Amino acid sequence: ARITLRQLLDHAAERGYGVPAFNINNMEQALAIMEAAKACDAPVIVQVSRGARAYANDIMLAKMMEALEAIYPDIPLCIHQDHGNNVATCLSAIQSGFTSVMMDGSLKEDAKTPADYAYNVAITREVTRLAHMVGASVEGELGCLGSLETGHGEAEDGHGFEGALDRSMLLTDPEEAARFVAETGVDALAVAIGTSHGAYKFTRKPTGEVLAMDVIEKIHARLPNTHIVMHGSSSVPEEWQAIFNENGGEMRETYGVPVEDIVRGIRSGVRKVNIDTDLRLAATAAMRRVATSARSEFDPRKFLKPAMDAMRQVCAARFEAFGTAGNA
Ligand code: G3H
Ligand code: 13P
Ligand code: NA
Ligand code: ZN
Repeated sequence: ARITLRQLLDHAAERGYGVPAFNINNMEQALAIMEAAKACDAPVIVQVSRGARAYANDIMLAKMMEALEAIYPDIPLCIHQDHGNNVATCLSAIQSGFTSVMMDGSLKEDAKTPADYAYNVAITREVTRLAHMVGASVEGELGCLGSLETGHGEAEDGHGFEGALDRSMLLTDPEEAARFVAETGVDALAVAIGTSHGAYKFTRKPTGEVLAMDVIEKIHARLPNTHIVMHGSSSVPEEWQAIFNENGGEMRETYGVPVEDIVRGIRSGVRKVNIDTDLRLAATAAMRRVATSARSEFDPRKFLKPAMDAMRQVCAARFEAFGTAGNA
């Protein structure tokens, strides 16, 4: 059944678990996530970027969501717009049946320029006003994701601001977060706490604390009723990097956010945990392995089935680690 982000994360807060929000672009990703959810008895957030909507077509996605509900009637399913860039993107998502939207006003509409606070408040407040009229939930974002290691935005994966960022923008200010929520009325807030999008998050294996735990705790204390969202939460598993590289891939040395650190974040109030890269990597590594081990194979299903199995394993591991399992 379809539920809103507010309904799902209120339940998660009550019981102290976190919910992975997996990005989807196609049937294979969707089925892999739902199979894992069924096996773990977990509620699901599937999120769809603007790029995903352009790739798959809104009608295809809307019908696919109906199909997922019919195939998995017992799994609570939240359908969320990831990184909406303006009012129209958010409203057309709701029109397609999404139950939740992110209005990312931390960047200007082109997603290449950091926005000022006043712009962010105005556009997020307007989306919240409209979405709440029809019962949809809203996630806002305060602070810019980027590397604390380099102080730079994220050119690597082709989205987000690329240049040098003021260090103060790379960590959300708890005081400002409280003001932002009061002024916009968002249900959930994405915060900058040391993560960044894509595969290349850290160049060295993290030893100490990866997340700015003090920032999470201060935001949670000021905003107990606003759900904290963590973007850039892929762990970039070394085992999938190895399979990718052993089969002709070229991923340079890199480290993601360790699952244990995410679990610590969840203990301190993080509720929605965005994961895209991990499923991309596992799926493509699995397909590369088929390509090298079965060189005469040309049935795409022989590539896509192992890709689905790989994604299912990653999803199940996150449902178990984040405490989502058993809460459907
Ligand atoms: O944060 C962005 C997500 O990883 C989606 O990426 O815009 O390439 O679909 P995308
Ligand atoms: P990753 O690139 O770490 O998977 O982050 C995805 C994300 O934040 C989508 O909004
Ligand atoms: Na942002
Ligand atoms: Zn994101």
